[in-house]
Amino acid sequence: ASQGLTDTFGRVHRDLRVSLTDKCTLRCTYCMPEDAGPFLPRDKTLSGAEIERLVRIAVDHGITGVRLTGGEPLLRADLVDIVARLASIDLPTGGVLPVSMTTNGIGLDRRLPALQEAGLGRVNVSIDTMQPERFHRLTRRDRHADVLAGIAAARDSGLRPLKLNAVAMRGVNDDELGDLVAYAVSQDAQMRFIEQMPLDAGHTWKRDNLVSGEEILERLSERFELSEVSGRGSSPAALYTVDGGPHTVGVIASVSKPFCGDCDRLRLTADGQMRNCLFAREETDLRTLLGDSATDGDLAAAMQLSVTAKKAGHGIDDPDFVQPGRGMNAIGG
Ligand code: GTP
Ligand code: 5AD
Ligand code: SF4
Repeated sequence: ASQGLTDTFGRVHRDLRVSLTDKCTLRCTYCMPEDAGPFLPRDKTLSGAEIERLVRIAVDHGITGVRLTGGEPLLRADLVDIVARLASIDLPTGGVLPVSMTTNGIGLDRRLPALQEAGLGRVNVSIDTMQPERFHRLTRRDRHADVLAGIAAARDSGLRPLKLNAVAMRGVNDDELGDLVAYAVSQDAQMRFIEQMPLDAGHTWKRDNLVSGEEILERLSERFELSEVSGRGSSPAALYTVDGGPHTVGVIASVSKPFCGDCDRLRLTADGQMRNCLFAREETDLRTLLGDSATDGDLAAAMQLSVTAKKAGHGIDDPDFVQPGRGMNAIGG
């Protein structure tokens, strides 16, 4: 192993998020338009072997964990193969690379046994509402029951900690945050509420509409006794025990309380672009390098260039802030 991927602010990068596809089974309004697409053609999408090679290089340079995202990663036909490839990478410090996945849960019940067998260590599942009609309106698809089946499968799989994600949205689900927590506890899961970030396809995000972390906590405090857990490290979530524990609830306040100063994340898109931030304006093209028979050293140097270009923070509050060109589905959640 060589020197870690360190940026100009001294942040060392340990966590790599790999988007496997920009396609999804849902069309959540905060992420994709109804008429999403055109999606990435096959020949522009990294293969399992290419992903494995890039991840091996990243691990050689200090990455200690990988999270698979999308779009919806379960739409990758070769997902089990990808997990098996990544979960067999040795860490220089001993042990194998931990591989986790963020999913919308649809089809998870069918696929989890094989994924677990292949070495998947953990899943986070998105669930924004407990109400099927609301789910349909928000995601433009009538699949609420499928998501609940996926979460139940994750619960039964024993993979822990199991985390559930909900984007808090005014007039959409801000009156049922407590119900989501109660449900998560019933599934032995940690519920996490996420402030909505300006990543929606419609570019309709307005700060005035934000359901802030503070407001989320106020609402939850009406129903539960919350007590903050210390020592969050580089995790985006602040955690609170629910009614004395053991279950906890998380608040991801990316907008009102940015955690960029502790950011240790890098992203790889399905078309092989390295992004140093969710909100990066520029990407580093690793796929073209792969096609040009670049050496591992060339690829590592390109990764370091991406890291070196990383800005201090997301800049959502800057007067000249511009949303990234691609939607969340193409960046990787
Ligand atoms: P854990 O390892 O389980 O803590 O995973 P995670 O929270 O990193 O992953 P997940 O995909 O579940 O992310 C949950 C949410 O956190 C995402 O949907 C984003 O809203 C937010 N998030 C994740 N990574 C970043 C990031 O690098 N920057 C910002 N601003 N938000 C992020
Ligand atoms: N703001 C915050 N979180 C978002 N996600 C998708 N779009 C946004 C957004 N605009 C979250 C999903 C899921 C993860 C993959 O990304 O809810 O938990
Ligand atoms: Fe890291 Fe960018 Fe997310 Fe901030 S917004 S935590 S810098 S990825």
